[in-house]
Amino acid sequence: MSKKQPRGMNRRGFVKICMTALAAGAQSLALARPKGQYKAYQRSLLIDEVQRPLRAADLLVGENYIFHYPYVTTPCFLVNLGAPAKPQVELRTEAGDSYRWQGGVGPNAAIVAFSAICAHKMTHPARAVSFINYRHERVRFQDKRRRASEGSQLIHCCSEKSVYDARNGARVLGGPAKQPLAAIQLAYDESNDNLYALGTYGGEMFDKFFAKFAARLQLEYLTSDVDRQVGAKTEVTPLDRYCKTRILC
Ligand code: FES
Repeated sequence: MSKKQPRGMNRRGFVKICMTALAAGAQSLALARPKGQYKAYQRSLLIDEVQRPLRAADLLVGENYIFHYPYVTTPCFLVNLGAPAKPQVELRTEAGDSYRWQGGVGPNAAIVAFSAICAHKMTHPARAVSFINYRHERVRFQDKRRRASEGSQLIHCCSEKSVYDARNGARVLGGPAKQPLAAIQLAYDESNDNLYALGTYGGEMFDKFFAKFAARLQLEYLTSDVDRQVGAKTEVTPLDRYCKTRILC
C-alpha cells in the first residue's frame, strides 16, 4: 500500500522534503568530531534490558552500567556522573598521539562512556567476575608516584591498581597503565532522550584484545565471530546484574 502524498505537492517535492527532514534529524545527533585518534563505527542505539530505547533519565547517578561496543565482545562502561563532565581535556595515547575528549552528553552533560578494557593488561568485566569497576564513592588509591591519594568517580582496575579519572576522559591517575581508557563517543537525542554510540577515540586495544582472549570470548559469548561489530542496537545492563562478582579494591 502506497503512502499518501501531501496535497498540492508533486513526487519530487515530497521526496525533497523527506530528504531534508532526514538530514535535519541526522544533524540533531551530530557532534563535533573529536580531534585526533577518532574512529567511527556503526551508530548504535542504546537499549535497556527489555529491548526498549534507553532514556538518559533511566540512568541512575553513580550506577556502573555496561554495554558492548563497537564489537559484540568488547565491554564498555556507561556512567551518569551526576554533574557535567567538561570537554576539552587533552589526552595522549601510549604511542604519543594526542586527542581531545568530548566530555559528557545528555541533558546535564553528565553521561560518559569508556571501553572497559584496562589499558594495562586488558583486564575486563566477564560474566563470572569483574576486577575493573567504576567507583562513584570516595576511595583510596596510589597515585602515579605511589603516594596515598583519595578520589571519587574513578575507574579502578584491581589487577595491578590502575586508576582512571571518569570525569576527565579516563586519564590515568595511578598504576601501571600508560594511556587512558579508550573513550566511546556518545550522541544524545533531545527529542526522545535516547543515547547512541558512534565511535571510539583514544588508544583502542581491540586487536590485541582479540588476539589474547579470543578462545575465552568464544566460550563466554557463544560465538566464533568474536570481532563482529554490534548492530544498530546495543543493550545496557547494570554491571551488578551483568557479572556475578565485582572485586573492589
Ligand atoms: S590489567 Fe588493569 S592494572 Fe593491570
